[in-house]
Amino acid sequence: MINIPTHLKGRDFIRTQDWSKEDLMTVINTAESLKFAFKHNEPTEFLKNKTIFLMFFDKSTRTRNAFEAGMTQLGGHAHYIDVSTSQIAHGESAKDTGIILSRYGHGIAIRHDLVPYEGEKYMREMAFWADKPVINLQSDIDHPTQTIADLMTIFERFGTNLRGLKVAVSWAYTKSYAKPVSVPQGLIMLLTRFGMDVVLAHPPEYKLMPEIVEIARKNAEAEGTKFEIVDDMEYAFKDADIVYPKSWGALELFGKPEESLKLAEKYRHWIVDEEKMKLTKPHSIYMHCLPAARGEEVTDEVIDGPHSVVFDEAENRLHTAKALMALLM
Ligand code: CP
Repeated sequence: MINIPTHLKGRDFIRTQDWSKEDLMTVINTAESLKFAFKHNEPTEFLKNKTIFLMFFDKSTRTRNAFEAGMTQLGGHAHYIDVSTSQIAHGESAKDTGIILSRYGHGIAIRHDLVPYEGEKYMREMAFWADKPVINLQSDIDHPTQTIADLMTIFERFGTNLRGLKVAVSWAYTKSYAKPVSVPQGLIMLLTRFGMDVVLAHPPEYKLMPEIVEIARKNAEAEGTKFEIVDDMEYAFKDADIVYPKSWGALELFGKPEESLKLAEKYRHWIVDEEKMKLTKPHSIYMHCLPAARGEEVTDEVIDGPHSVVFDEAENRLHTAKALMALLM
């Protein structure tokens, strides 16, 4: 029988940085128990008759479906809201929406990631007024339900003592839209707290938000880990245990798609292929939050090859989503 600790009930989950390492470990331990129960067809109806509202300002495959399927498996109901079809599209405030939804249900989860310096502000405003927990399904700053699943996946591969492992968080090329910076930002904030030496690699124009880089630096200092920023993917991959290369947009060019795509063309060679994977340690893992741009960010040989753990990561989105809902609601 799974024991769901109660000390996290009612908390918001907006950045992993807001939570202690112990509380983050509670999420992962609970997710492991729920994963075991899922594999063995054991019932997990910890949220019978409860409702979570999932508000999406952007598209999603994994996040939406992990939370919808997860809530059904917990015995409750996830209510999907495409905000373009709600009164939010006519300007209804975060305050009013948060108060009303929290009177109708037991939790609110939000994806609002497309415009730098808007999404997290919206979530924190809603969390202030809503008297139910608010979960960040990806903001402009962090993607904590992704990175907690990533950390669980890393534990599954390397055990929980990650001291001294080298992880390369790298920009990669794509010709699609300018993707948010929240995944690399979330990774550098979280992984520096869990014993890993983090190398962040990107072309000069693809800097992350300076205040987030500063948090990662301070985390590394406090934890005795290393944090380095370079502009060379090969250097970052050298002897890495973990590589996590993905595309993101240049912050100054959000909202300017033509300029953004033109800039990215300069860096087509930032693709992960077998040659680059040879630079890493033999046991290294290739990670990606997905969706991946095959043939642009990564070759099929790598993403479908022996180093890749992308489908384990995606699967762990379900188990960590369930853990978060069960613990917070
Ligand atoms: N990784 C991730 O958040 O995927 P979706 O955009 O499909 O939700």
